[in-house]
Amino acid sequence: MTEGVEIRESAAGDLPAIEALYPQAFPDEDLVPLVRALLAEGPTVLSLVADTDSGLVGHVLFTRCGLEDGTGEAALLAPLGVAPARQRQGIGSALARAGMTRLEDEGVAQVFVLGDPGYYGRLGFRREARVPPPNPLPAEWREAWQSKCLKGAEPAPGGQLSLPQPWLRPELWAP
Ligand SMILES: CC(C)(COP(=O)(O)OP(=O)(O)OC[C@H]1O[C@@H](n2cnc3c(N)ncnc32)[C@H](O)[C@@H]1OP(=O)(O)O)[C@@H](O)C(=O)NCCC(=O)NCCS
Repeated sequence: MTEGVEIRESAAGDLPAIEALYPQAFPDEDLVPLVRALLAEGPTVLSLVADTDSGLVGHVLFTRCGLEDGTGEAALLAPLGVAPARQRQGIGSALARAGMTRLEDEGVAQVFVLGDPGYYGRLGFRREARVPPPNPLPAEWREAWQSKCLKGAEPAPGGQLSLPQPWLRPELWAP
């Protein structure tokens, strides 16, 4: 059902459409400041859009990061949003998978995410207990912190993600 949907890296001109998409996908949260701040990080982030004849219908961001005291390169997946009219058509999964394929080719070993295990479990994510989230989470969110190893990599034994500034500002993203 992703026919007619092109997954590509975003360009500067996509910013207004990306900023318009998030309030539709997340009517109860304002993720625009986070998305704006992450996109300003330039090559640190991988930003993919799902583009159609009628405009952008999805977006995902991955923040490339290191693992202090750990091994290998890592990435943090967030946020991921699909326009309500186009949800449940495989677009979110296609965006996430396309990003992980690119990161795998770059040598990224492990991708972390804070999200619904019901959704991310389908993409191969499992609860992460060794590497902590960027900031402490309420107990009811512990199941939501997950990771997935790429290309047969071993899970990091521990350590802290070394993330850029926007992720060190919980007011931009914490539940
Ligand atoms: C969550 C989201 C990114 C998924 O993208 P999508 O393109 O709709 O999802 P896909 O088509 O790839 O996958 C659909 C499957 O995921 C599951 N799914 C979708 N949203 C889900 C959710 N919030 N929780 C659990 N499962 C979910 C469904 O089981 C669905 O399968 P089904 O149609 O067979 O029941 C998108 O629905 C969205 O932007 N939602 C609003 C924002 C949001 O809640 N984001 C939270 C991400 S943690």
